[in-house]
Amino acid sequence: MAASGRFSHADMPKDFLTLADWTADELLALLERARELKELRKRSREHRTLAGRVLAMFFEKPSLRTHVTFEAGMTQLGGHAILLRPEQIGIGTREAPRDVALNLSRWVDAIVARTFSHSLLEELAEVATIPVINGLSDLLHPCQVLADFQTIAEHCKLTDAVIAYVGDGNNMANSLLLGVAVLGLSLRVATPAGHRPARRVQRRAEELAAASGAHLSWCEDPVAAVTGAGFVYTDAWTSMGQEAQRERRRVEFAAYQVNSSLLRHAPEAWVMHCLPAHRGEEITDEVLDSERCIALDQAENRLHAQKAILERLLLQP
Ligand code: CP
Ligand code: NVA
Repeated sequence: MAASGRFSHADMPKDFLTLADWTADELLALLERARELKELRKRSREHRTLAGRVLAMFFEKPSLRTHVTFEAGMTQLGGHAILLRPEQIGIGTREAPRDVALNLSRWVDAIVARTFSHSLLEELAEVATIPVINGLSDLLHPCQVLADFQTIAEHCKLTDAVIAYVGDGNNMANSLLLGVAVLGLSLRVATPAGHRPARRVQRRAEELAAASGAHLSWCEDPVAAVTGAGFVYTDAWTSMGQEAQRERRRVEFAAYQVNSSLLRHAPEAWVMHCLPAHRGEEITDEVLDSERCIALDQAENRLHAQKAILERLLLQP
Protein backbone atom coordinates (compact mmCIF):
# COMPACT_ATOMS: atom_id res chain seq x y z
CA MET A 1 0.00 0.00 0.00
CA ALA A 2 1.58 3.21 -1.14
CA ALA A 3 1.94 6.14 1.23
CA SER A 4 -1.01 8.38 0.62
CA GLY A 5 -1.19 12.05 -0.11
CA ARG A 6 1.76 14.40 -0.17
CA PHE A 7 4.07 15.19 2.63
CA SER A 8 4.53 18.68 3.99
CA HIS A 9 7.94 20.34 4.12
CA ALA A 10 8.22 19.15 7.71
CA ASP A 11 7.96 15.57 6.37
CA MET A 12 4.74 14.94 8.24
CA PRO A 13 1.81 13.43 6.37
CA LYS A 14 -0.54 16.00 4.88
CA ASP A 15 -3.49 13.63 5.18
CA PHE A 16 -4.90 11.07 7.59
CA LEU A 17 -5.83 8.25 5.22
CA THR A 18 -4.01 5.31 6.76
CA LEU A 19 -2.17 4.75 10.04
CA ALA A 20 0.63 3.22 7.96
CA ASP A 21 1.67 6.76 6.90
CA TRP A 22 2.38 7.75 10.51
CA THR A 23 5.28 6.80 12.76
CA ALA A 24 4.82 5.33 16.23
CA ASP A 25 6.04 8.59 17.80
CA GLU A 26 3.52 10.61 15.78
CA LEU A 27 0.65 8.31 16.77
CA LEU A 28 1.72 8.41 20.42
CA ALA A 29 1.81 12.23 20.26
CA LEU A 30 -1.72 12.25 18.84
CA LEU A 31 -2.85 9.93 21.64
CA GLU A 32 -1.26 12.16 24.28
CA ARG A 33 -3.00 15.23 22.85
CA ALA A 34 -6.30 13.30 22.68
CA ARG A 35 -5.88 12.49 26.38
CA GLU A 36 -5.28 16.18 27.17
CA LEU A 37 -8.25 17.28 25.07
CA LYS A 38 -10.47 14.81 26.93
CA GLU A 39 -9.28 16.27 30.22
CA LEU A 40 -9.84 19.86 29.03
CA ARG A 41 -13.40 19.04 28.04
CA LYS A 42 -14.04 17.24 31.32
CA ARG A 43 -12.95 20.37 33.19
CA SER A 44 -14.96 22.63 30.84
CA ARG A 45 -11.75 24.43 29.83
CA GLU A 46 -11.92 26.27 26.50
CA HIS A 47 -9.59 24.97 23.81
CA ARG A 48 -10.42 27.02 20.72
CA THR A 49 -7.24 26.19 18.84
CA LEU A 50 -8.97 26.10 15.44
CA ALA A 51 -10.93 29.36 15.65
CA GLY A 52 -12.09 30.44 12.21
CA ARG A 53 -11.14 27.13 10.57
CA VAL A 54 -13.65 25.20 8.47
CA LEU A 55 -13.99 21.46 7.81
CA ALA A 56 -16.00 20.09 4.86
CA MET A 57 -17.58 16.69 5.57
CA PHE A 58 -18.60 14.35 2.78
CA PHE A 59 -20.28 10.99 3.44
CA GLU A 60 -21.16 8.41 0.77
CA LYS A 61 -22.48 6.09 3.51
CA PRO A 62 -24.50 6.65 6.69
CA SER A 63 -22.81 7.77 9.90
CA LEU A 64 -23.71 8.69 13.45
CA ARG A 65 -20.39 8.75 15.33
CA THR A 66 -18.06 10.03 12.63
CA HIS A 67 -20.40 12.82 11.56
CA VAL A 68 -21.28 14.02 15.05
CA THR A 69 -17.79 13.77 16.51
CA PHE A 70 -16.17 15.68 13.65
CA GLU A 71 -18.84 18.38 13.71
CA ALA A 72 -18.90 18.69 17.50
CA GLY A 73 -15.11 18.53 17.58
CA MET A 74 -14.72 21.43 15.14
CA THR A 75 -17.22 23.50 17.13
CA GLN A 76 -15.43 22.78 20.41
CA LEU A 77 -12.11 23.78 18.81
CA GLY A 78 -13.67 27.11 17.79
CA GLY A 79 -14.11 26.21 14.12
CA HIS A 80 -17.01 25.12 11.96
CA ALA A 81 -17.99 22.04 9.93
CA ILE A 82 -20.12 21.89 6.78
CA LEU A 83 -21.93 18.68 5.85
CA LEU A 84 -22.05 18.06 2.10
CA ARG A 85 -24.76 15.61 1.13
CA PRO A 86 -23.70 13.29 -1.73
CA GLU A 87 -26.70 14.27 -3.85
CA GLN A 88 -25.79 17.92 -3.33
CA ILE A 89 -22.33 17.69 -4.85
CA GLY A 90 -22.66 14.60 -7.07
CA ILE A 91 -19.03 13.59 -6.82
CA GLY A 92 -18.14 11.64 -9.97
CA THR A 93 -21.49 12.40 -11.61
CA ARG A 94 -22.13 16.15 -11.45
CA GLU A 95 -18.45 16.93 -10.98
CA ALA A 96 -15.16 15.04 -11.16
CA PRO A 97 -13.56 14.23 -7.78
CA ARG A 98 -10.47 16.29 -8.67
CA ASP A 99 -12.59 19.37 -9.35
CA VAL A 100 -14.45 18.94 -6.07
CA ALA A 101 -11.12 18.65 -4.23
CA LEU A 102 -9.63 21.67 -6.00
CA ASN A 103 -12.66 23.85 -5.27
CA LEU A 104 -12.90 22.83 -1.63
CA SER A 105 -9.18 23.56 -1.25
CA ARG A 106 -9.89 27.24 -2.07
CA TRP A 107 -12.59 27.64 0.61
CA VAL A 108 -12.07 25.38 3.58
CA ASP A 109 -9.17 24.07 5.68
CA ALA A 110 -9.70 20.31 5.59
CA ILE A 111 -11.97 17.58 4.22
CA VAL A 112 -13.24 14.48 5.97
CA ALA A 113 -14.66 11.93 3.56
CA ARG A 114 -16.40 8.58 4.01
CA THR A 115 -16.26 6.69 0.73
CA PHE A 116 -16.88 3.26 -0.67
CA SER A 117 -13.66 3.11 -2.66
CA HIS A 118 -10.41 3.86 -0.88
CA SER A 119 -8.93 5.03 -4.18
CA LEU A 120 -11.43 7.90 -4.29
CA LEU A 121 -10.00 9.10 -0.97
CA GLU A 122 -6.49 8.80 -2.35
CA GLU A 123 -7.50 10.74 -5.45
CA LEU A 124 -9.02 13.53 -3.35
CA ALA A 125 -5.92 13.67 -1.16
CA GLU A 126 -3.58 13.72 -4.13
CA VAL A 127 -5.30 16.71 -5.69
CA ALA A 128 -6.40 18.69 -2.63
CA THR A 129 -3.97 21.25 -1.24
CA ILE A 130 -5.62 20.83 2.17
CA PRO A 131 -5.61 17.78 4.47
CA VAL A 132 -7.99 14.92 3.67
CA ILE A 133 -9.11 12.69 6.54
CA ASN A 134 -10.42 9.15 6.04
CA GLY A 135 -13.80 8.95 7.76
CA LEU A 136 -14.00 5.27 6.69
CA SER A 137 -13.55 3.57 3.35
CA ASP A 138 -14.20 -0.01 2.31
CA LEU A 139 -10.53 -0.64 3.08
CA LEU A 140 -9.71 1.32 6.24
CA HIS A 141 -11.10 3.18 9.27
CA PRO A 142 -8.07 4.82 10.89
CA CYS A 143 -9.87 7.45 13.02
CA GLN A 144 -11.73 4.65 14.78
CA VAL A 145 -8.52 2.80 15.56
CA LEU A 146 -6.83 5.89 17.01
CA ALA A 147 -9.81 6.29 19.37
CA ASP A 148 -9.61 2.56 20.13
CA PHE A 149 -5.95 2.89 21.14
CA GLN A 150 -6.87 5.82 23.38
CA THR A 151 -9.51 3.57 24.98
CA ILE A 152 -7.11 0.67 25.43
CA ALA A 153 -4.55 3.02 26.99
CA GLU A 154 -7.15 3.92 29.61
CA HIS A 155 -7.03 0.30 30.78
CA CYS A 156 -3.42 -0.79 30.42
CA LYS A 157 -0.03 0.28 29.15
CA LEU A 158 -0.56 0.33 25.40
CA THR A 159 2.49 -1.81 24.69
CA ASP A 160 1.19 -4.51 27.07
CA ALA A 161 -2.13 -4.84 25.23
CA VAL A 162 -2.96 -8.20 23.68
CA ILE A 163 -5.87 -7.69 21.31
CA ALA A 164 -7.98 -10.39 19.65
CA TYR A 165 -10.14 -9.43 16.68
CA VAL A 166 -12.92 -11.89 15.89
CA GLY A 167 -15.18 -11.76 12.82
CA ASP A 168 -14.84 -10.23 9.38
CA GLY A 169 -11.45 -9.23 8.01
CA ASN A 170 -12.88 -5.88 6.98
CA ASN A 171 -11.91 -2.19 7.17
CA MET A 172 -11.76 -2.38 10.98
CA ALA A 173 -9.53 -5.46 10.99
CA ASN A 174 -7.33 -3.86 8.33
CA SER A 175 -6.85 -0.64 10.25
CA LEU A 176 -6.27 -2.44 13.54
CA LEU A 177 -3.57 -4.51 11.85
CA LEU A 178 -1.80 -1.41 10.53
CA GLY A 179 -2.10 0.51 13.80
CA VAL A 180 -0.86 -2.42 15.87
CA ALA A 181 1.96 -2.95 13.40
CA VAL A 182 3.12 0.69 13.60
CA LEU A 183 2.97 0.79 17.40
CA GLY A 184 4.50 -2.64 17.98
CA LEU A 185 1.52 -4.13 19.84
CA SER A 186 0.04 -7.63 19.72
CA LEU A 187 -2.99 -8.63 17.60
CA ARG A 188 -4.53 -12.01 16.82
CA VAL A 189 -7.12 -12.03 14.07
CA ALA A 190 -9.65 -14.86 13.79
CA THR A 191 -11.78 -14.89 10.64
CA PRO A 192 -13.28 -17.54 8.36
CA ALA A 193 -10.75 -18.58 5.71
CA GLY A 194 -12.43 -16.61 2.94
CA HIS A 195 -12.66 -13.40 4.97
CA ARG A 196 -9.11 -12.62 6.01
CA PRO A 197 -7.89 -9.03 6.00
CA ALA A 198 -6.91 -7.68 2.58
CA ARG A 199 -3.72 -9.30 1.31
CA ARG A 200 -2.02 -5.97 0.57
CA VAL A 201 -2.82 -4.76 4.09
CA GLN A 202 -1.42 -7.96 5.60
CA ARG A 203 1.79 -7.48 3.61
CA ARG A 204 2.16 -3.84 4.67
CA ALA A 205 1.40 -4.76 8.29
CA GLU A 206 4.04 -7.49 8.21
CA GLU A 207 6.62 -5.02 6.88
CA LEU A 208 5.77 -2.54 9.62
CA ALA A 209 5.77 -5.28 12.27
CA ALA A 210 9.25 -6.38 11.24
CA ALA A 211 10.46 -2.90 12.20
CA SER A 212 8.31 -2.33 15.30
CA GLY A 213 8.37 -5.80 16.83
CA ALA A 214 4.57 -6.12 16.68
CA HIS A 215 3.12 -9.60 17.06
CA LEU A 216 0.52 -10.33 14.37
CA SER A 217 -1.20 -13.64 13.84
CA TRP A 218 -4.07 -14.99 11.79
CA CYS A 219 -6.20 -18.03 12.43
CA GLU A 220 -9.70 -19.39 11.89
CA ASP A 221 -10.33 -20.37 15.50
CA PRO A 222 -11.97 -17.67 17.64
CA VAL A 223 -11.20 -19.58 20.84
CA ALA A 224 -7.48 -19.71 20.03
CA ALA A 225 -7.52 -15.97 19.24
CA VAL A 226 -9.23 -14.81 22.43
CA THR A 227 -7.53 -17.13 24.91
CA GLY A 228 -5.40 -14.93 27.17
CA ALA A 229 -6.34 -11.72 25.33
CA GLY A 230 -6.83 -8.50 27.28
CA PHE A 231 -9.17 -7.03 24.65
CA VAL A 232 -11.66 -8.83 22.40
CA TYR A 233 -12.73 -6.72 19.43
CA THR A 234 -15.50 -7.40 16.96
CA ASP A 235 -17.34 -5.58 14.18
CA ALA A 236 -20.27 -6.11 11.83
CA TRP A 237 -20.35 -9.25 9.73
CA THR A 238 -22.12 -7.22 7.04
CA SER A 239 -20.47 -3.85 6.50
CA MET A 240 -22.14 -0.88 4.84
CA GLY A 241 -22.57 -1.66 1.15
CA GLN A 242 -22.69 -5.46 1.67
CA GLU A 243 -26.34 -5.64 2.69
CA ALA A 244 -27.24 -8.00 -0.19
CA GLN A 245 -24.87 -10.62 1.33
CA ARG A 246 -26.35 -10.43 4.81
CA GLU A 247 -28.06 -13.83 4.92
CA ARG A 248 -25.02 -15.65 3.50
CA ARG A 249 -22.74 -13.84 5.93
CA ARG A 250 -24.90 -14.69 8.94
CA VAL A 251 -24.24 -18.34 8.14
CA GLU A 252 -20.54 -17.96 7.31
CA PHE A 253 -19.76 -16.05 10.50
CA ALA A 254 -22.06 -17.91 12.92
CA ALA A 255 -19.12 -19.46 14.81
CA TYR A 256 -17.53 -16.02 15.31
CA GLN A 257 -20.13 -14.43 17.56
CA VAL A 258 -18.73 -12.68 20.64
CA ASN A 259 -20.92 -14.16 23.35
CA SER A 260 -20.54 -15.33 26.93
CA SER A 261 -19.50 -18.79 25.83
CA LEU A 262 -16.55 -17.44 23.76
CA LEU A 263 -15.61 -15.03 26.54
CA ARG A 264 -15.21 -17.90 29.01
CA HIS A 265 -11.85 -18.29 27.25
CA ALA A 266 -10.96 -14.67 27.98
CA PRO A 267 -12.34 -14.07 31.46
CA GLU A 268 -10.31 -10.89 32.03
CA ALA A 269 -10.84 -9.33 28.61
CA TRP A 270 -12.49 -6.02 27.86
CA VAL A 271 -14.87 -6.20 24.90
CA MET A 272 -14.61 -3.66 22.10
CA HIS A 273 -16.87 -2.77 19.18
CA CYS A 274 -16.63 0.24 16.87
CA LEU A 275 -20.43 0.41 16.57
CA PRO A 276 -23.00 0.29 15.09
CA ALA A 277 -23.56 -3.19 16.53
CA HIS A 278 -25.82 -5.75 14.92
CA ARG A 279 -27.18 -7.15 18.15
CA GLY A 280 -27.61 -10.92 17.99
CA GLU A 281 -25.18 -11.25 15.06
CA GLU A 282 -21.51 -10.48 15.81
CA ILE A 283 -22.25 -9.71 19.47
CA THR A 284 -25.00 -10.64 21.91
CA ASP A 285 -27.06 -8.12 23.90
CA GLU A 286 -25.71 -9.70 27.05
CA VAL A 287 -22.09 -8.91 26.12
CA LEU A 288 -22.70 -5.52 24.50
CA ASP A 289 -24.66 -4.30 27.52
CA SER A 290 -22.23 -5.74 30.08
CA GLU A 291 -19.79 -3.80 32.25
CA ARG A 292 -16.88 -5.36 30.43
CA CYS A 293 -17.90 -3.80 27.12
CA ILE A 294 -16.13 -0.46 26.49
CA ALA A 295 -17.77 0.38 23.16
CA LEU A 296 -19.22 3.66 24.48
CA ASP A 297 -15.79 4.76 25.69
CA GLN A 298 -14.49 4.03 22.20
CA ALA A 299 -17.33 6.11 20.76
CA GLU A 300 -16.59 8.97 23.16
CA ASN A 301 -12.91 8.88 22.34
CA ARG A 302 -13.68 9.40 18.64
CA LEU A 303 -14.35 13.01 19.66
CA HIS A 304 -11.05 13.53 21.45
CA ALA A 305 -8.85 11.55 19.05
CA GLN A 306 -10.24 13.34 16.01
CA LYS A 307 -9.78 16.75 17.64
CA ALA A 308 -6.13 15.79 18.07
CA ILE A 309 -5.96 14.77 14.39
CA LEU A 310 -7.60 18.03 13.28
CA GLU A 311 -5.16 20.10 15.32
CA ARG A 312 -2.20 18.13 14.06
CA LEU A 313 -3.17 18.49 10.40
CA LEU A 314 -4.43 22.07 10.51
CA LEU A 315 -1.78 23.58 12.75
CA GLN A 316 1.27 21.95 11.19
CA PRO A 317 4.09 24.41 10.40
N1 CP B 1 -17.87 3.69 14.29
C1 CP B 1 -18.32 4.55 13.35
O1 CP B 1 -17.59 5.01 12.46
O2 CP B 1 -19.62 4.88 13.47
P1 CP B 1 -20.50 5.63 12.37
O3 CP B 1 -20.61 4.70 11.19
O4 CP B 1 -21.83 5.89 13.03
O5 CP B 1 -19.81 6.90 11.97
N1 NVA C 1 -17.10 -2.42 9.06
C1 NVA C 1 -18.14 -1.45 9.33
C2 NVA C 1 -17.64 -0.37 10.22
C3 NVA C 1 -18.67 0.64 10.63
C4 NVA C 1 -18.11 1.73 11.48
C5 NVA C 1 -18.65 -0.88 8.02
O1 NVA C 1 -17.81 -0.57 7.15
O2 NVA C 1 -19.85 -0.77 7.85
